[in-house]
Parts: sequence; C-alpha cells; structure tokens
Amino acid sequence: MNVHLKALLTHDPETQLSAKARAFAARPKQLFINGEFCDASDGGTFASEDPATGRKICDFASATAQDVDAAVRAAHAAFETGWRDMAPVARAALIFKLADLIADNAEELAQLESLDSGRPLNVTRVLDIPFPVEALRYYAGWATKLSARTIDLSLQSDAYHSFTRREPIGVAALIVPWNFPFVQVAFKLAPALAAGCTVVMKPAEQTPLTTIRLAELVIEAGFPKGVVNILTGFGRPVGSALAEHPMVGKVSFTGSTQVGKSIVQAASGNLKRVGLELGGKSPNIVFADADMDLAIPGAANAIFAGSGQVCVAGSRLFIQRSAFDKVVSGIIDHASRIRIGAGLNRETEIGPLISDVQRRRVSSYVDAGRKAGADVALGGSALGEAGYYYSPTVLVGTTPNMTVQREEIFGPVVCAVPFDDIDDVLPLADHEVYGLASSVWTRDISTAHHIARGLKAGAVWVNCHGVYDPNLPIGGYKQSGWGQELGQAGVEAFTSLKSITFRL
Ligand code: NAI
Ligand code: MG
Repeated sequence: MNVHLKALLTHDPETQLSAKARAFAARPKQLFINGEFCDASDGGTFASEDPATGRKICDFASATAQDVDAAVRAAHAAFETGWRDMAPVARAALIFKLADLIADNAEELAQLESLDSGRPLNVTRVLDIPFPVEALRYYAGWATKLSARTIDLSLQSDAYHSFTRREPIGVAALIVPWNFPFVQVAFKLAPALAAGCTVVMKPAEQTPLTTIRLAELVIEAGFPKGVVNILTGFGRPVGSALAEHPMVGKVSFTGSTQVGKSIVQAASGNLKRVGLELGGKSPNIVFADADMDLAIPGAANAIFAGSGQVCVAGSRLFIQRSAFDKVVSGIIDHASRIRIGAGLNRETEIGPLISDVQRRRVSSYVDAGRKAGADVALGGSALGEAGYYYSPTVLVGTTPNMTVQREEIFGPVVCAVPFDDIDDVLPLADHEVYGLASSVWTRDISTAHHIARGLKAGAVWVNCHGVYDPNLPIGGYKQSGWGQELGQAGVEAFTSLKSITFRL
C-alpha cells in the first residue's frame, strides 16, 4: 500500500467537515423547480456516496420524465415572461450577486465538493469554487456587452440598411458530468444566463451535492422563479428526457462521446441546438531539448491530477527517444511521491476515483494492456481497503493498436511512447477519433509553432498543460465535441443570430 495513503486514511475524513457543511450534507435533498424545492413526482430517491470511503452521504430526489416536463415548462414561462427581455444590466447584477454568494460560502462549498467527488480540498479551495466565481463574473460582464453588427449589403448597399441581433435561444438544458462538478455547472450556467436563456440543469448522479447548495444561493440572489431549475437523477430518464423535450432550444452536454451521440439523436426531434464537450486521448509531446524541470512534473500532473479523470488529461505521452529513459524515470519518481488520500484531508494531492464502477473500468484497461504485452513501469493496481483508490500508473511498450493507447481510460494511467523526430510525432499524435487537447514541451520556438499548427486538437498548450481561463474558448475537434465553451464563443453558443433588413 502507498505509504501516504496509509497515513492519510488513519483518521475519518468526514471529521474535517465544518458543522455547516456537515449539516447540509446530511439533509435529504429535493429537486428545484420554479423556485421551489420539491420531491420527485414518484417520490423516488437515490444516494450519492463519498468515494473516499464508499459511505452514503444522503438521499437525493430522483427526477422523472414528468419532473423534466415541469421544470422545462417553468423555464419556458420564465423565459417568455421576463428573463429574455430583462435589461442586460439587471441580469448582470443577479449573476454578479450569485458569484458573490458563492465566494461568501466558498469554504463550505469546497468541503462539500471534496466530500462528494473525492477531489482534494487543497484543489477545490483554489480551483473548483474560485474558478466558477470568476466565470460567473466574467459572463456577467458579457450580459451588457453582447451585441451584433451593422452590415453593408454587398449588392445594394444604398437601397437597404441591414443589421444583426443576437437573441437568446430559450430554454437551455445543461447536463454535466462528475469529474469537476461545480466547475462544469458554472461553465454552462454563467454563459446561458448572460445570454438571456433560462436553464434546467442536471448534475451527475455521482456528484449532485454542490449543485443543490447552489439552488439555495440562486434563491438568495433573488433570481426570478423558473430561471434556474435543477433536477438530480440519472442519465435515463432525466438527461434523455431533457435532450428530447420539444420546448428545450439548446442542450449543452459534457461527458462521454457515447452519450454525446445519443444526445444528438434525441435532439433530432425538434433539431434543438447541441453543444458537446466529450472525451479525449490527448497527446503530450516532450522533445529532448525541453526544460525538464518543467516538462517532467508538467507531464506527470497532466495525467495524474484529478486521478486522470480529466477530459484533457495527457494520457498519451510521446517522448523523444534520446530523452525517453530520463523522462520516464523522472515521472515515476514524481508519481511515487504524490500524496494519495481522501479529498477532505488537507495534505492530499490526488484523491480516489469517483466510483467502484470507474475503478473497475480503469483496472480492466490496465489488465487488457498487460495481456496485450505492455509493461507496467509503475502502479497498475487498486489501493487501500475502503474507497476507490488506484495507483498512478505508467505503461511502456504499448502499441497504437492496444486499447490502452486508443481508448479514453479516465484514470491515472499514461502510455509513454518514444518518437524520433518532429516529422514522425505528428502522425503518431493524431488520433482517429479524438481531438480535444494537446501539449508540447520544447525550448525551440520553431518546433513549438510547427507542432501547434499541426496538431488536430481544439487546444494546444506549449510548455504548460491544462491552462483554462474564462476568456479562452475551448472545444473539441473530431468526436471530442461540437462548439466551444468559455470566452465570447461560449456565450454566443446560447444565442441565435438574426439579420434584419430595412428598405431605405
Ligand atoms: P456519462 O457520459 O454517462 O455521464 C455524463 C452525464 O450524462 C451525467 O450527468 C449522466 O447522468 C448523463 N447521461 C448519461 N446517460 C445519458 C443519456 N442517455 N442522455 C442524457 N444524459 C445522460 O459518463 P459516465 O458514465 O459517468 O463516465 C463514463 C466515461 O465517460 C468515463 O470513463 C470517461 O471516459 C467519459 N467521461 C468524460 C467526461 C468529460 O469531461 N469529457 C466526463 C465524464 C465522463
Ligand atoms: Mg458522490
């Protein structure tokens, strides 16, 4: 057993919760429809668990298709009767207020997020709660700045006056996964509200805790009833009913490519707009001339942070042959020192996987890699007695046809692969299915530009990895997604563009 894990599991992580967080966590939770909390239409419930211990946190209402219909109708009424036409400055004020309330309750939210998702408290405190605050403030600013253009017609510029308008699409369904629960909610909620859409959100069934706390803050901020609705429950029936509902104008989804495809099919009934942030198998390319003090910890964090449960995880590590042994041993050394433990323990650097299902999925990929001939240079096993821990794992000797190199594992497992030069790494890095993110480590500017242009991915990081900013759009190439989140593109994704022409 990892020495740190042993040390970090000697006391009960839940004793780290403040009295306020503990009281909130223990209470049974309801749905949030039209500004009110209510039970599911059939009274159904489900439990969310603490992945550090496997213990149940509390019961959540399990929404039904009937609840989806009620929430969508409430959102539609709120859109038609005020939110759409509210002065942008008034919408902005409400979004700023929500950001302030999250900031005021940041420590409680950070603890709840660690409890429900297993993410380390020292990460939820600096990322999972502060980033949403900044994303809400950033998009509150966009509410008063969204505008369109005056257009001079190319054929008859004197005869007509034309201009465009950006109008909110209507009801937006926001379906989020469990890996960054609160961050993912904010990525979608902030631009949707700023654009003038009303929303029905569905957190992942594994991690609904902070989203329900958010509902209380939505009330406190003073949003009109029905502008924000929150349905806890499962992909089927809740997510699928949202994707099918004829009164939903846009569905914004983050999760697996497989479910993304089923959403596209479900959305075809009314051809609603679809935004998708899906999976990846992102290449991380280290040249021999890289600053290894940056590249080695950078490449290790790119795969081990969040226990690899990150859509942009650098899961395929291409290393220039002359530096291969040095980089692999550097990563193994770095990874062996990572403090693994319960998210709520302050010293923890990486937490457990989200569930037993996810740990079995990760294990079976590594076992398949072993069977196919890969060598396990580090890790390759589950850790601990309780909780869903998995060791940071480095695989060498893999080939492009092995599932470990082809499929998204969504765990702390990296395939280290040697390459010879700049020309052979681009075809190696190119993935037939995915194109989400990528990174390259080199001191040579020309190499960096060449690789950055050549990679078929929605994001390229040079001498860094996973840098996000509210003003920087991100989205996938190929089957990694449709459209962008964040930045101007992120708010425009919740609008329709109308052109208006006057005869002069
Ligand atoms: P998932 O794609 O099933 O779940 C994501 C969200 O979609 C959850 O809220 C879920 O309830 C909802 N959902 C599930 N089925 C649905 C349906 N038919 N219609 C509408 N919504 C539906 O992901 P899951 O099963 O939790 O994880 C499986 C794999 O997906 C992971 O191992 C990983 O490879 C990938 N994944 C990728 C993420 C990313 O950020 N790109 C996030 C989570 C998972
Ligand atoms: Mg949970």
